[in-house]
Amino acid sequence: MKILVINGPNINMLGIREPGIYGSHSFDDLLALLQDTARELGVEVLQFQSNHEGDIVDKIQWAHGKIDGIVINPAAYTHTSVAILDALKAVSIPAVEVHISDVDSRESFRQISYAGLACRKTIKGHGLEGYREAIAYLKNLLGHSQEKTDFSATSD
Ligand code: DQA
Repeated sequence: MKILVINGPNINMLGIREPGIYGSHSFDDLLALLQDTARELGVEVLQFQSNHEGDIVDKIQWAHGKIDGIVINPAAYTHTSVAILDALKAVSIPAVEVHISDVDSRESFRQISYAGLACRKTIKGHGLEGYREAIAYLKNLLGHSQEKTDFSATSD
């Protein structure tokens, strides 16, 4: 099972940017958490971070036919990008939206999520742990759909 974790603009600045909101853990700490989660759950986790909207769209398109599930924190593009929403809809890969901070308790412009409209679930305000929860959710979801496929294949 292959899961792609996509992070949008300024997530590479974790630990430096607004620690009162995003915490003191660095982006490298997040990468380490993703590796640990992959090992613990027995899934393959690939990661991609970009500050550029089109590069994120390209990566989502690339995932088609190669990736089983997507975890995405589109960061500021959450609140603006119809292009990322359309890319997620285009590939139809089960996706989970993650926000490190609790966007609901912040500025009103953060209450809108375009990408979230194409996601099965949104996890917000759980810090970096939200990524672990998202991967575990996808593993569970995809594991069940895999079981169903196996069952119908043997019952014929
Ligand atoms: C964020 C929340 C967004 O509103 C913000 O623009 C970010 C990070 C989060 O993880 O809490 O860059 O997605």
